[in-house]
Amino acid sequence: MNIFLTGATGFVGGELLVNLSKRKEIDKIYCFLRAFSEDEAIIKLENIFRIHHDHFDEKKIIPVMGNLFDEHLTDILIANKMLNDVDVIIHSAANTSFSKIYDDMVEKANMGGLEKILLWAKQLPHLQTFEYIGTATICGKDIKNRLVFEDESPNLAASHLVKYTFTKMHGELLIQKHLPTEKILIVRPSIIMGDSRPVVPRSPVILWAVATINHLRFIPVNENAKLDMIPVDYAAEAIVSLLFVKRNHKVYHISSGKDACTTSLKISKALEEYFTEPPPFHFANKSLLNQVKQWSKNKLHDDSELHKFPQYLEYWKHTFEDPSALRILLAGLDPYLGFVELGQVFDNSRLLQDVPTIKQSLPADVYIKNSMEYIEKIDLLEGALNP
Ligand SMILES: NC(=O)c1ccc[n+]([C@@H]2O[C@H](COP(=O)([O-])OP(=O)(O)OC[C@H]3O[C@@H](n4cnc5c(N)ncnc54)[C@H](OP(=O)(O)O)[C@@H]3O)[C@@H](O)[C@H]2O)c1
Repeated sequence: MNIFLTGATGFVGGELLVNLSKRKEIDKIYCFLRAFSEDEAIIKLENIFRIHHDHFDEKKIIPVMGNLFDEHLTDILIANKMLNDVDVIIHSAANTSFSKIYDDMVEKANMGGLEKILLWAKQLPHLQTFEYIGTATICGKDIKNRLVFEDESPNLAASHLVKYTFTKMHGELLIQKHLPTEKILIVRPSIIMGDSRPVVPRSPVILWAVATINHLRFIPVNENAKLDMIPVDYAAEAIVSLLFVKRNHKVYHISSGKDACTTSLKISKALEEYFTEPPPFHFANKSLLNQVKQWSKNKLHDDSELHKFPQYLEYWKHTFEDPSALRILLAGLDPYLGFVELGQVFDNSRLLQDVPTIKQSLPADVYIKNSMEYIEKIDLLEGALNP
């Protein structure tokens, strides 16, 4: 089996690449990545293996340099005859930013870029499977506090918290437009955070949000809203394993499901056990978020409810010499809090039934204990400034 993998330099793609490289059934893995030279591309690929001391097999892993933004991408890939032996494409590359300032780039990468890959894929002589790494959050923001099933999406009537989920939904529609059903495999992970092994996680992305709420300690969000989170090693194992089983469906959630979901409260308890110095977590009504923002601008009214929590105002004064730092953190945190409030849990029974080697994932409040030292080192302002 020869694989063409996009997004290998990313959080999920890196884990996919290492997982794929260990499978005997796979001969070659063409890695599509951005680089200025072949040497740079190889260094980037080697680094993916170095992080957890995995073996980099340069005969098996072949860089293919390119950019989803390149208007000639389809033609460049078609002209690359080496790729004619590809039988499986795993498309993990995407712009995953939640920030409005990147909306145009998100659309260009996740819809325009995907379509260029599809136009190449559809003329490949041996293509068997196009595995698209979608996202369970394409179900949108109107579904609240319940179990969500695969067949509820894509739904053009869904409204979205961020452009990213909108473009991922349209990505699925583009795949249906260009490829026959028998070649399509869509996986929709829930929120991928950290790693269940005691290793340095490949990316701080969602852990940044955890580190930030740990730093704030006063969080205007529903602490009991259910949260569907999985570790990246579990996600990668499920995504790769689906290629090797008899599949009864085209679309699979890769998620904690109802049996292994968590809550902000449970995660806060795990954090409090390790980080004992700051005040205990306090979860407040979402309506107080604006007052926290006003505090960070030195504009909090004297009669504001937030004054009822002097312990936290004192703590912030002491922690944030410059309150504008809190403002920057809140701006970065905003979309994450929006997702937390939705209380969505994604049914994972299809995955568990069709892939016997995949069991229930560990709950995030349990496996996060492996990442406490890492959380401590996350640069919060850097993460907020590069959403
Ligand atoms: N992380 C999650 O919680 C989560 C949950 C559900 C689904 N997903 C899906 O999983 C996939 C991977 O997400 P991730 O968390 O691994 O994201 P990530 O860490 O941001 O990685 C994104 C990857 O896409 C590549 N990419 C972005 N723009 C590109 C372009 N113009 N040309 C070529 N490559 C480009 C990046 O390359 P560079 O290194 O060059 O930037 C990187 O390799 C995405 O499809 C995402 O929608 C993620």
